[in-house]
Amino acid sequence: MTFTLALEPGLTCRALKRRLPGMQARAVSFAEYCCLVSRRFVLASRFLKGKTSPAIRRPFVILALICTAFSPPVVAADKVELSVDVTKTGAKIDRNIFGQFAEHLGHGVYEGIWVGPDSRIPNTRGIRNDVVAALRAIKVPNVRWPGGCFADEYHWRKGVGPADKRVVTLNPNWGGVIEPNAFGTREFMDFLDQIGSDAYLSVNVGSGTPQEAAEWLEYMTAAQPTTLSKERTANGHPSPYKIGYLGIGNESWDCGGNMTPDYYLSQLKVYSRFVRNFNPAQQDKQQMLKIAVGPGGDGPRWTEWTEAVMKAYQQHTWSWDINGLSMHNYTVVQWPPSYTSVGFGETEYSQILKSTLEIDGLISKHSAIMDKYDPEKKVALVVDEWGGWYAPLPGSNPGFLVQQNSMRDAVLAALNLNIFARHADRVRGANIAQMINVLQAMIITDNEKMVLTPTYYVFKMYVPFQDATFVPVTFDAGWYTHGDIALPRVDAIAAKDANGKLWLEITNLDPKQPAEIEVNLTGINAKAAVGETLTAPKVDSVNTFDVPNTVLPKPISAQVRGGKLALTLEPKSVTVISVEQ
Ligand code: AHR
Repeated sequence: MTFTLALEPGLTCRALKRRLPGMQARAVSFAEYCCLVSRRFVLASRFLKGKTSPAIRRPFVILALICTAFSPPVVAADKVELSVDVTKTGAKIDRNIFGQFAEHLGHGVYEGIWVGPDSRIPNTRGIRNDVVAALRAIKVPNVRWPGGCFADEYHWRKGVGPADKRVVTLNPNWGGVIEPNAFGTREFMDFLDQIGSDAYLSVNVGSGTPQEAAEWLEYMTAAQPTTLSKERTANGHPSPYKIGYLGIGNESWDCGGNMTPDYYLSQLKVYSRFVRNFNPAQQDKQQMLKIAVGPGGDGPRWTEWTEAVMKAYQQHTWSWDINGLSMHNYTVVQWPPSYTSVGFGETEYSQILKSTLEIDGLISKHSAIMDKYDPEKKVALVVDEWGGWYAPLPGSNPGFLVQQNSMRDAVLAALNLNIFARHADRVRGANIAQMINVLQAMIITDNEKMVLTPTYYVFKMYVPFQDATFVPVTFDAGWYTHGDIALPRVDAIAAKDANGKLWLEITNLDPKQPAEIEVNLTGINAKAAVGETLTAPKVDSVNTFDVPNTVLPKPISAQVRGGKLALTLEPKSVTVISVEQ
């Protein structure tokens, strides 16, 4: 296997040597020598630029080029050794990190989920059967609804009652289109029943009132015969609904009302106090968890926001409480999103992956602030909007956030999920944006057609990690480099499920080179290891309605030798295996 070495600005020869752990001594010295010499000539030619005539500078430029030419392709990269000690376990990987997000946006809800009972698309009470079947297979733990920015303009009363009496409004956030309110409370809860998932409701803080939100919760959860609970019964649901999570506002620092931390905190306390869940089954156990608005990026604005909310939490009294702090982080590189979701190459692949890995630092930074005010980690960090956000597909309504989903997104999803798993003690919820037809979707539909995306398959392969116990994996990933970008060659996590079975996920980020993997196991007598691997011909390979199986998981097995596993991962691949003992 060859390793291509690119000269990076600021890369010292000592750093170069650290990056090439598997190289033979002679190759290292030769590479180091060329690197050192070429850097000297590069620096000299830069220094002379503009200070002397081109004729004097030219020899330095030529020597720099010659030496640089000798520095790259040096030696083969070694196999990557992973060490997994199953006797050492960590936190539970909360199944809620595999949550989804369905906003009234573009065709995310209308057409993606809701086609109406009279549609020729096969449906159950208006909800499409093909989508339900696909989502059941990935065991969606919770769905965040109705937004997003939409949530702060949503008024629940317009979405209850007989279908022909629903109030028709507009959706000013997303394309200014008609919002028929045909998909309201009953339809959302029916959809959750059909897919077997919990509700994560985002209540309107921006343009609603605490009373409106409190009444919505009374309507949904009261068991006693109040006027509102009787209305729910009349609308077809006598028993109280269960609400798992309550988001108090969405991006209140921006589309949710442009609030300062202090203003938001005064709202948060009031909503937390008065928006109650009356469901008798949720009083002691299975209590509804309240999620406060948290940071939306990197920088002092966001650390100040987290500081303010967590400081208030530390001083909170009996009358209000929160159980989670939300974080939004899209992989976008720059706003407005300009990277395309199809028709890109290795440069955009590596840039997007570099950008996505930055969420690790962001989580660490905000976790550290949370640790200061909540050392017992009672408040979860809930990354309730994440994923790749690219330029709208040509010809689509820009307000609908339509993009394709490629092999790059599969790798991106795996890297993010692995980061959440490594922070499992604090990150106990996450919702990819968004479930269907919007941004980094699981499913794309067009009228009666439906296709499952590479990201869908990653979520499917990761099902065994839901509520599994984290097992630390140690490894020296080595480097995959492209241009001036250096990324770890591989990433990996491990976990033990409820039956004690060991699961391993290994991602090969390198889009050109396979990765030879050896897994040293302690505390387990491995007999076999089998699973699935997801890869594709190109980094921008996608599944389409016409060709839906370009990116599809296929079986893989590891060889077991002397208690060790050995397997080869294809370039740009996501692999999940379980170990039989
Ligand atoms: O997911 C699209 C939008 O991104 C959401 O509505 C908003 O919360 C975020 O800015």
